[in-house]
Amino acid sequence: MAEDAYQKAYGEIALFYRISANAIKAENEEQLLDIFLHELAMFFDAEIVVYAERKDGEIVPCRALGVQTSEPCVIKEGETSCWKALKENSPVIEFSKEGNLDLPQPIKRLKPRAVLHAPVTIFGAPKAVLCIIRLRPERFEESDAKNIKVIVNQLALNIERLRLKERTERIVEERTAKLRETEEALMNMIADLNKAYRELRTLDAAKDEFINITTHELKTPLTPIKIQAQLWLDGAYGELNEKQKESFRMILRNVTRLTLLIDDIMTIAKLDAGKIIFHFEKHLIGKLMEEVAEDFRDVCRVRRMSFSMNIPDELRKLEVEVDGERIKQVMSIYLDNAVKFTPEGGSIALSGEVKDGFVEITVADSGIGIPEEAIPKLFTRFYQVDKTITRKYGGTGLGLAIAKALIEKHGGRVWAKSAGLGKGSTFGFAIPLKKSKEGGEA
Ligand SMILES: Nc1ncnc2c1ncn2[C@@H]1O[C@H](COP(=O)(O)OP(=O)(O)O)[C@@H](O)[C@H]1O
Ligand SMILES: [Mg+2]
Repeated sequence: MAEDAYQKAYGEIALFYRISANAIKAENEEQLLDIFLHELAMFFDAEIVVYAERKDGEIVPCRALGVQTSEPCVIKEGETSCWKALKENSPVIEFSKEGNLDLPQPIKRLKPRAVLHAPVTIFGAPKAVLCIIRLRPERFEESDAKNIKVIVNQLALNIERLRLKERTERIVEERTAKLRETEEALMNMIADLNKAYRELRTLDAAKDEFINITTHELKTPLTPIKIQAQLWLDGAYGELNEKQKESFRMILRNVTRLTLLIDDIMTIAKLDAGKIIFHFEKHLIGKLMEEVAEDFRDVCRVRRMSFSMNIPDELRKLEVEVDGERIKQVMSIYLDNAVKFTPEGGSIALSGEVKDGFVEITVADSGIGIPEEAIPKLFTRFYQVDKTITRKYGGTGLGLAIAKALIEKHGGRVWAKSAGLGKGSTFGFAIPLKKSKEGGEA
């Protein structure tokens, strides 16, 4: 290999190496272009190097070495060699001995003799052009065109790398900002919720207060009405005929119903407000069952129903810490319903059992039964399966809701089962043998 050719090849390889080694360090496009323009000027021994980008019908210089001007230097789309390089996506060489090349005025004034235009393909499209310009009359050669292709590829790859990096950083930044916004919105929501909760608590207290006052006001006049009606019935104000007597009996029945309703509402309101005091003491569960059964045996006899009790021995001896009156109240609510919803001649059974650390009490009847879809709603306030039927039976629809609340205060649970309409029902509750620490406080 001749000395010259060897020198040239060595220079090319050194340039390629330097460029790729330095380009990778560039952190933005300005730095990257400065590196390339410098190396190109040196390698091609050119006075001017310009990097320009294609922007809707114009080629606009972005960075230049060897010229400085405030004049606009755009090249409008047309027959110029610069546009040719872009459109054909291949380097174009031009030479003019007189320095008459078709370049923007600030360069043209310097009488450039030789130019090499090389298109730069960024993300698959020729988006920019590198113009390497000599003022002295020395042509660019085919080998220059070949070399510049390699260099331009390096430039394009680095531009793509920087743009991707910037895009990723922008996305991360945007996402972070969004995340921060969401977090802020969430904090605001929590604050709003807290405020709403506090307001609700205030309203709730006001509601409890309202119920207390109104129930009290409703109940007070009932006592004299009841007394007066009873006095009339007892003949204290003279003899009554049968029609008048029936009238006063109706008053008495309705007063009793109203009293029960008010009592139920007061119980629920007090439970809500945590104002029912529970007295937890050791009680024999079997004894509590006996006491309640006592009241219902007579009722059943009158209505010609059979009443049975099933208290296993282990339950008779079992002491559990409960509020005895409240547990009896729940059994009464169940038995009361059983009697109410079972036709004459039916049967009722009160049973107890110890199971998995709980005492389970059930009241089973052979009464009208409950449709499957109604079962989950039974323990909600004011719920009655069939308004027309329950009107016939009377009641407030609060009994089971009270039972549930009372049992839950004991750390227990309630349930209901029925094989369907006309097939009887079973209501049950279970309370833990050992009272949990927090459970039971009203
Ligand atoms: N043993 C039962 N058999 C059939 N239906 C029942 C029985 N116990 C309760 N129910 C249904 O559950 C409803 C709610 O009962 P409860 O809360 O005690 O209210 P109330 O007895 O005042 O109607 C009753 O109206 C009735 O429809
Ligand atoms: Mg009831």
